[in-house]
Parts: sequence; C-alpha cells; structure tokens
Amino acid sequence: MVPSRDRGYGMTPRITTFDEFREAVSAYRLPRVLLAALELDVCTVVGDRTWTIPDLAKTLKVSERGLDILCRNLAMAGVLLKKGERYKNSRLGATALNANHPAYRGGYLDLIKSHWTDWCRLPESVRSGLPIDHHVPDSPDWRRRFTWAMHHRTVEVAPAIAAQLKLGRARTFLDLGGGPGTYAMAFLAKNPRLCATVCDREAALEVAKEIAATHRAGRRLSYLPLDFAKEPIPGVYDVIWYSNVLHIYSPEDNRSIFRNVLAALAPGGRLIIQDAFLHDREGLLPAEASLFAVSMLLFTETGNTYSASETARWLRECGFGRVTLRRIKKGTEDWEDGILEAATPARRPRTTVRRRRSRGSSTNR
Ligand SMILES: C[S@@+](CC[C@H](N)C(=O)[O-])C[C@H]1O[C@@H](n2cnc3c(N)ncnc32)[C@H](O)[C@@H]1O
Repeated sequence: MVPSRDRGYGMTPRITTFDEFREAVSAYRLPRVLLAALELDVCTVVGDRTWTIPDLAKTLKVSERGLDILCRNLAMAGVLLKKGERYKNSRLGATALNANHPAYRGGYLDLIKSHWTDWCRLPESVRSGLPIDHHVPDSPDWRRRFTWAMHHRTVEVAPAIAAQLKLGRARTFLDLGGGPGTYAMAFLAKNPRLCATVCDREAALEVAKEIAATHRAGRRLSYLPLDFAKEPIPGVYDVIWYSNVLHIYSPEDNRSIFRNVLAALAPGGRLIIQDAFLHDREGLLPAEASLFAVSMLLFTETGNTYSASETARWLRECGFGRVTLRRIKKGTEDWEDGILEAATPARRPRTTVRRRRSRGSSTNR
C-alpha cells in the first residue's frame, strides 16, 4: 500500500542558503511571544473588555514598555485586535486562550508551555537516545494533566473525523489508548446505535469519565483499565480505533499490539489507526510527521514516527487482510493522510476468533 499520488508532501520549503537557514531558525520568535502571552495570562485578563496599555499593564503588574511591545506583536499575529491605542481579544483570544471561558483549552496550552523548555534539552536525548526525564515515573497526577491536554488538543477535530469515517453496521467500538475518550465520544454522538469502550490507564479513565458525564452519549461509554501492551484485550469488537498511540511504541511492540488487536476483532471487524504517518520514499515528509518523531525521542523510550507503507506491511505480517489509506477532507484532519484501515482477513484460523460477542469486560460505566 502506498499513497496513490503526491498530495503535497514535497511542498515543504528546503533550506539551501544561509538566509533561509537564518529565517528558519528565527521562527522561534513568534512562538516565544505567544507563550509569553500565555505565561502572563494576557488573554484571560483582557477577557471581553477593551484596554489601553497603561491600564492593562497595571492589572497584569508588568511594565508598560514590555506590554506595549508584546501586545503589538500579538495584534500583528491576530491574537489581539488593535484599534488606535486600544486592544481587545480576537475570537480565539476570548475563547480557547481565556481561562474564564468554557471553551478554554488550558490542558493543551500547559503542555505546549512545558514543551518549550523540554525541547531546549534535545541535545541530551540525542546523546543518550533516551527521553529527557527517563528516570521520572509516570504519576497519576501527570497522567491526568496529560489526558486533559489530549482532550483539549482534539475536542474540535474529533467530531469532524467521526463525521467522515462511516462505521456502517458496527455496534461495538473500542478506543484503544483512548485517553480522555474524546474520539469515542465523537463516534458515539455520530452513531446512535453504537456502544463504545475506552481502554487506558486508570488515571486517564478518570478524566474520560468526567468528560463523558457531561454528554448524553456518555451513557453508551464503558471503561476498560488495562495495559494492552502486556495483557490480552478482553471482549470482541466490530471496530478498534488506535489513535495517536502507534508512535509511542517500537515496530516490534506495535506488531505485538496488532496481534492482540486482531484477536479482539469480530469477523469482518476493522482496526482503524490514526497517526503521524510519513508518506514519501525517504521517510521525511510531511514535515509535521518528521518533527513529531523528535517529540517521541524526548518523551518515550522507543517511540518514533513510521511510514504508512511500513505500518501496512506490519499489519499484513500480523494476519490482517486488506489495508487502505483513508482520505479525510483537508483542514479537518488530525494528521495529513493520517488514517489507515485494516480489515480482518477473509478467512481466519478458528482459534483467533473469539466466540463471545460482548462490549468488553467494562467497568465503572
Ligand atoms: C497520545 S495519547 C492519545 C489519546 C487519544 N487516543 C487521542 O488520539 O487523542 C496516548 C494514550 O495511550 C495510552 N496508552 C499508551 N500505552 C498504553 C498501554 N500499554 N495501555 C493502556 N494505555 C496506553 C496513554 O495512557 C494515552 O492516554
């Protein structure tokens, strides 16, 4: 399986001159301005009022000179709107970046704030081949914050994707490594006869339960605390959704998880994988997918990003049948051409097909 035609993966600008190099490196400036605004809580304090710099500086307890230059740049970027001497929030600033608004995406904003300092430590990981904080264990508190970050990252894109992926007559859906269950909730909302299970670590499932409690469709969501890299997946499902997990694991671990998944799929079932796939021959593009591998170096023991074709090969080696790259409308994707679908094989050895159809060994509905 290879993408049928070039969809723009070759469009990333290449750095060939010193000026282009300088320009590429200087791209840190705007992100640093945006993160300073988050650290100073500018959009929250601006709220729905219009401000002069002296008034806003007094409220934020910062210098007028500093704030003037910061706000001018935020207005240049469109996060604030400027008219004469006055500033107000843009729509984005007033909602997703404003801690007093229900649409605030603070979980994800906190994660990217910490990424700034984490990415500064990249040489450490390049030297050691290990995550920067490899000695720090995964605490429930950290997992909880990370899970909220994942919700705030995908809360908008998940419904758009669920609207485009038709589940047909599927009745049982497993969101494997589903974290906050944001995708499971989006598929439930779109498919009224579907029941879903979100499988993850206990601390992540606590967040999923809080989110599900705020949706009607949340009544059709069950929870499966399990380490699916180590234990068999109980239950049988029509669709297993494996979103943004492939990149956490090595090729060997992913193959072992695929075998676990195949045993938990009903005949005619489907595994749908969403990830930052590479699509070109050399494994460099899209740039987003290449750069995401750097995150995996910084934060995981064995993670990486993989090409769609090598992932398709692993799936077939593990016994899956047809593997297809699914098209999602541009602008509504989590990753560019980031969805692979693998069908169960036409005929399966009897031992790999579980007899009992169930909604999983779910707990704590
Ligand atoms: C990057 S998040 C993705 C969350 C969600 N699927 C999404 O697309 O936004 C990866 C999730 O997989 C879970 N996960 C990874 N390995 C796991 C394992 N072996 N057992 C249970 N959960 C796991 C993590 O706890 C985390 O919630």
